Parts: sequence; C-alpha cells; structure tokens
Amino acid sequence: MTSSHIPVMVQEVLCWLHPEENSVYVDCTVGGGGHSKAILEKLKGKINILGIDRDEEALKIARAELGRYGEQVMLRQRNFRDLSVVLAEEGMEKVDGAFYDLGLSTIQLDDPRRGFSFRYDGPLDMRMDRSQSLTAAHLLRQLPGEELGDIFFRLGQERWAKRVAQFVVQERRVHPIETTSDLVEVIRKAIPARVRTKRKIHFATKIFQALRIQVNHELENIRESLICCFDLVRRQGRICFISYHSLEDRIVKEEFKKRDGTTIRILTKKVIKPSQEEIRKNPRARSARLRTAEVV
Ligand SMILES: C[S@@+](CC[C@H](N)C(=O)[O-])C[C@H]1O[C@@H](n2cnc3c(N)ncnc32)[C@H](O)[C@@H]1O
Repeated sequence: MTSSHIPVMVQEVLCWLHPEENSVYVDCTVGGGGHSKAILEKLKGKINILGIDRDEEALKIARAELGRYGEQVMLRQRNFRDLSVVLAEEGMEKVDGAFYDLGLSTIQLDDPRRGFSFRYDGPLDMRMDRSQSLTAAHLLRQLPGEELGDIFFRLGQERWAKRVAQFVVQERRVHPIETTSDLVEVIRKAIPARVRTKRKIHFATKIFQALRIQVNHELENIRESLICCFDLVRRQGRICFISYHSLEDRIVKEEFKKRDGTTIRILTKKVIKPSQEEIRKNPRARSARLRTAEVV
C-alpha cells in the first residue's frame, strides 16, 4: 500500500519547522506520512516522530510508508484536539516541535466510499473518524432548513446557502438525499445556471466543504488544539500550520496574534504560499498557506 497524496510545501516545512537531530516532533496530521517521511529522510532517521491522525485508513498508509523507520516513529489514531492527553499517555511532557497539515488528504478525497468529493458517486459519509456516528447524510436528513442554510453560509461561504437549504428540504420530503450525486443534483437545481457556469470552482465545492467541516467539527478542533499546543512545545521549539481555506487560516492567524510577543514569536510575518512551480505540478497545493511560530 502506497500513498497517492503528494505532500505540500515540503521544502518550506523543513525550513520553517527546522527539525534537529535527537529531538521529538509531533506530526498532528500524519495522513499518508509524506511530511514525516521528509523530516526523517532529512535527519537520516536521527529523530523521533509521534504521528497522529483521526482516520484509521490514513494510519494504515502511514504505517506502510513509515514502517522502515521502526521505533523512530509512533503512530496513534487520535484527534489533535486531545494533544495534551495524547502526549501524557506517551509519557511526554513537551516535544521539540509540532506540525499540522490541515484538511483532507488525496487518499480520503479520492475514495468514493468516503463521500468527501462531488467528483465521485458514493454515500454521503464525510467522517474522518469512522467510529463517529454522525455523517453528512444524517445532517441533511435531520437538520431544519434554517440550520442547514446557516452551515452552508458560515462554513462554505456560499452566497446561495439559503436557497440550497430550501431545495434540500423540498427534495428530502420526496426522496432521501443519501449519495454525493443526489446532493450534487440538488445543488445544481438550486444555483441558477448563469451563476454555476461562471464560477471558477465546481458549483458544489462550497456546500461539500461546509458539510465536511460540520461533520468533523474541524474548526473547533483546530482552535482547541491551538490553545494547548504552545504549552506542549519546549522553548525555542517551532509550530507550523498549513491551512487550505480562509476559515482555517483565520483561526491560526488569530491564535498566533493573541500570543505574539508573550508566549510565542511569529516567524512568518507574511503567510508563506506555494511556488507557481509547485502549483503547476500539484494543483491541490494552490490554496495552501503556511504559518510558523516559535515558543519563547
Ligand atoms: C492534508 S492531510 C495530511 C497529509 C500528510 N501531511 C502527508 O504528507 O501525507 C490531513 C490529515 O489530517 C487528518 N486530520 C484532520 N483533522 C484531524 C484532527 N482533528 N485530528 C487528527 N487528524 C486530523 C486527516 O484525517 C488527514 O489524514
């Protein structure tokens, strides 16, 4: 089993995280193991990594990708929101650095069974952690139209949020919305053709993003992890975040700013973006934004 996910901004991560020999790093979103592998390669294995992911499928791939580093790598299925508990369980008081590569991996997006992508037909699941009971189909079945509209607007920044929610409510009265294709069809009917065809991104992108964030409580997890992670990294250790949309990036920026000059020092005064060359080779990198802070 190999990872089809191409890690984003690897050189920039190595530069800003600045991992050193004989240290311990936590990769809070180990995914297919791409960034962890780059760190291990750079330091010729003379580093320990604790890799966390909520998704057991991702961890299977990480295990295959990172297995050859033996005890240098520990992998745990956990939510990074619980970082302090995870470290305590491993007997670690502090680590030398922490890395977050937020959002989803290609492995998750391209698996139709996971229901994350409007490009493939599959069940409307969208759970990163499949032991959780709430799925996207549940939300679409159970939530009142007003609440759905609010989620589409807040978490998808969709201008047509209210209308899509009204169409969801109309549709579910006659036909359950169970698959990604069912939902794409509802969105297609709700957003006028003149708007749909002018968009640079697929017309279902924002609604899918909103549902995914809601199902996985993504923004709450990021904020909670940000609140504790600065206390878990030793002085002069670094924390790097890669985010993929403005809602994530805003939280990172806000939490960094609150602490800048007291408990941390922001190193990336201007957010770091991928090079044009990288975007050309890997279009999924285009929205990536890297921020780094040092604990003082
Ligand atoms: C962009 S991918 C990481 C890819 C990885 N850096 C690589 O190079 O292969 C993001 C990963 O973070 C995981 N994830 C998202 N939110 C999480 C959370 N709250 N706790 C733990 N893992 C999370 C996802 O399941 C996904 O595997």
